[in-house]
Amino acid sequence: MANENTFVMVKPDGVRRSLVGEVVSRFERKGLTLEKMRMLTIDEDLAGRHYAEHTEKPFFGDLVSFITSGPVVAMEWSGENAIAVSRTLMGATNPSDAAPGTIRGDFGSIITENIVHGSDGVESAARELGLFFG
Ligand code: RTP
Ligand code: MG
Repeated sequence: MANENTFVMVKPDGVRRSLVGEVVSRFERKGLTLEKMRMLTIDEDLAGRHYAEHTEKPFFGDLVSFITSGPVVAMEWSGENAIAVSRTLMGATNPSDAAPGTIRGDFGSIITENIVHGSDGVESAARELGLFFG
């Protein structure tokens, strides 16, 4: 049992498709607590730092152009096992593999546009919260 804080973001496709309320509602109903929330458009510098672990991946260019393509909603959520709980609510990275009942399973169709981001561990949560709310 661990009370955790995690970074969650509605990506540009989620904002464009008016899914911000849907995402927030699912996290609230699950019992997590919204601590901070901010709308912004990510620039290339922040995109590069946020996705630093993917710099060498073949999809990095597409990732940066997509995440900078429009406003996002950045959030800090807290709660028991908040990092893993958030990842469960989001579903698998590729929406075609994501289970029904998850955000990506219910609303996503392609891997580059998978609606939400959530930190994948304690260290990335601290790093990403620092980038967006530090
Ligand atoms: P995220 O960081 O966005 O929460 O997603 P994730 O942990 O489930 O997936 P990750 O491996 O961190 O990948 C980051 C984002 O890169 C895109 N991606 N594209 N074309 C591809 O093969 C590919 N693989 C990953 C996805 O949009 C993923 O969310
Ligand atoms: Mg990730």
